[in-house]
Amino acid sequence: MTHAEAAARITELSEQINHYNQLYYQESKSEISDYEFDQLLEELIRLETEFPDLLNLDSPSQRIGGAITKEFKTVAHESRMLSLGNTYSKEELIAFDERVAKGLGHTNYEYFCEMKFDGVAISLVYENGQLVRAVTRGDGTRGDDVTANVRTIRNIPLRIGGTNVPGKFEVRGEIFLPLKEFLKINVEREEKGEALLANPRNAASGTLKMQDSRVVAKRRLNCYFYQLLGDEIGVSKHEEAIHLLEKWGFNVSPTYLKAGKLEEVLSYIEEWREKRFSLPLDTDGVVLKVNDYDQREELGFTAKTPRWAIAYKYKAENAETQLLSITYQVGRTGAITPVANLSPVSLAGTTVKRASLHNANEIERLGIHTEDFVFVEKGGEIIPKITAVNPARRESGSSPIQYIDSCPECGTELIRRDGEAKHYCPNTTSCPPQVLGRIEHFVSKRAMDIDSLGTERIRALIDQGFIRNYADIYELESRQSELLGLEMSQDQYERETSGTLYITLQKALFALTEGISAKQIQDFLEEKTELPLFETLKAFQDQIRIWKKKVPSNVELVNRLIYQLKDHPELPKMEDFVPVALVLELFLGRRVELAQILEASKKHGAVHMILLDLNLDLPGELSERIKKLKSNTFQEGVISNMIAGINASKAQPFEKVLFAIGIRNIGENTAQLLARHFGSIDKLQAATSEQLLDVNGVGETLVHSIREFFAQQENLDHIAKLQAHGLNFEIEHKESVQLGTALAGKRVLASGKLQNFKRDEIVDFVQAHGGQYISSVSKNLDFIIEGEEMGPSKKEKAVKLGVPLISEEEFLRMVGN
Ligand code: IVH
Repeated sequence: MTHAEAAARITELSEQINHYNQLYYQESKSEISDYEFDQLLEELIRLETEFPDLLNLDSPSQRIGGAITKEFKTVAHESRMLSLGNTYSKEELIAFDERVAKGLGHTNYEYFCEMKFDGVAISLVYENGQLVRAVTRGDGTRGDDVTANVRTIRNIPLRIGGTNVPGKFEVRGEIFLPLKEFLKINVEREEKGEALLANPRNAASGTLKMQDSRVVAKRRLNCYFYQLLGDEIGVSKHEEAIHLLEKWGFNVSPTYLKAGKLEEVLSYIEEWREKRFSLPLDTDGVVLKVNDYDQREELGFTAKTPRWAIAYKYKAENAETQLLSITYQVGRTGAITPVANLSPVSLAGTTVKRASLHNANEIERLGIHTEDFVFVEKGGEIIPKITAVNPARRESGSSPIQYIDSCPECGTELIRRDGEAKHYCPNTTSCPPQVLGRIEHFVSKRAMDIDSLGTERIRALIDQGFIRNYADIYELESRQSELLGLEMSQDQYERETSGTLYITLQKALFALTEGISAKQIQDFLEEKTELPLFETLKAFQDQIRIWKKKVPSNVELVNRLIYQLKDHPELPKMEDFVPVALVLELFLGRRVELAQILEASKKHGAVHMILLDLNLDLPGELSERIKKLKSNTFQEGVISNMIAGINASKAQPFEKVLFAIGIRNIGENTAQLLARHFGSIDKLQAATSEQLLDVNGVGETLVHSIREFFAQQENLDHIAKLQAHGLNFEIEHKESVQLGTALAGKRVLASGKLQNFKRDEIVDFVQAHGGQYISSVSKNLDFIIEGEEMGPSKKEKAVKLGVPLISEEEFLRMVGN
């Protein structure tokens, strides 16, 4: 490529990349995949490396980071970064408006309303159109120079083109981590067992202070701008400044509004009180600013804040409610999260019934006792949290919450690693949610590809004891008759700390009544969602009377449910759920003791299995009534479809099976590499550490994972079972044609591009001539065929190990072609 061609291509690539960046950050749209995007970026970087003089400071390649900052330089702001006065009420706003009118001596002014963004304030300085400095607010006078990190934020203009751009100007705004990114990062951290980021604001501020800008680049920070400063800007109103910022390509939140009168400001505040929760970031109020710059000057400043602007802060909504119980959720990695079940209370427009308690420390910090009254607060998108307890309303018999010491799913004793806040269930092999995670991986598209086994079905099969590990999947065929009638979804069940199985109130009411549809009950419950349990049940009785549906018997059964619940205070209350055993007893009371039903409901995960356990001979009509408690059940069509999918998976090649069995740290590519290199599970198991390390891309960690996997008898048992079911644990040998013996006993590797062979062809060719193809450079090689553009590091290693390099022609002569 000539210099001129490169220059043209670089311009073209830069424009494309800037376009996609802009689209992504301003409009949350992507026209191309991440992969295609990375390809463009890589091409750009390649060209810029080859033609270093064509590298511009504002090239989009400069956003991938790379600079390491050991310590951030402190820099003085050219004009102080002030803060705003806060108000919390309409009265305070009226007082502010009166001060403005008095200061100006008339009421001929306008306001400009913006949201108050909850992020990290930043100041950007541009000189001759180029971004030269990005500084945090610091103490208002001096802040940290975080330019290298800010450059990685992909929609911050690195250069402003066009005419009429002032020689020097400054823009200020708020850097934030979009809520979606924040949640995504925390899901990933949760999966890796890392400590969670507390909130998006801290996450943004922490990210901005990271030393490695490459890591910053991956975090997808964003920024909203709201202030333009400089001597030669040529605007006289804030509104014009905002439009200039938009025109220059700065990201301005489209939420602003010009308001003529305070009334309009007040209705803006009301409009956004709830609507702000749909914005991509947290906001905590509204900022109103006098629009005209001359008027701003006339009004001036107090010691710390301008007299021409003020913030109105929405109060974090707070409510008091009672703790009913605590459930402990077990994640797919075994991490335990306690969740508080609350008496429903209305908060920021929604009904809150649950709040996360995070971990044992949090429970201890709050000092929660059973049945305490607690304060809940809701900040934006994030699930509500308990901020404090109300000791004045504590009941005399209550006691401090005892954190569980064994797993609510499998009973294994929990562990807590040093320095970590969360408890973990160490039973990775048979704890149901952890098994679920492993099986989901096993059946996934890129592994065994059994799409007739979705998450819901897997969970149902695990909870009802049919699957304990991936080998069990292949036993299902012989248990088809048992599957018939089995419940297909676990969504309607919840297990309480003591192990007792609960079922949704909706299902319970549906089964207890006659002539009322599930949909009618669902609609009713949704409408009454803010009522506590007993009031909901009373209201339901009233509704039955309004509907006039079998009033005496339906009302009576709901009545019996109420008494049942009241008679058993030892079973904790959970909003929207009732103990399955109490409901079943209403049907079976004359046939079996409650204690026995309760016992069975601790052992099994669904009504179907409880009934099998109780082994009762029920008349048809009663069976039909109880059936209404169940979810959809497995029927013949579904079962045969599932079995067909399972059987088809037996044809998956060894590399897929190797990936599926979930050896830690073995991804799809490594599985492929290992499968091709060793050819069978036995050889992989028997390989020495040296032999493993010989494979390209295999390091110490992987060797350790492989060793650990084969050291567990359980894994060996599962593999043996899978082998018995006919899964592939060896690569399929293509019918190899023997062309000669010229390479007998020789170990060969080809590197770089070859003229006469494609990648797979050379492997077959070497084997067809009696040789062994090896996929990595090692001292065991007899020689390497050196193709075009062989990697320099490989070459260096080969020379160091004394492995001879031969050309492709020499090789062909050697085999007599
Ligand atoms: S204007 C002199 N507009 O709030 C006024 N600030 O308490 C300069 N903030 O440091 C600020 N959203 O970090 C302004 N739309 C907005 C804002 C905003 C958030 C932050 C900013 C500032 C702090 C002042």
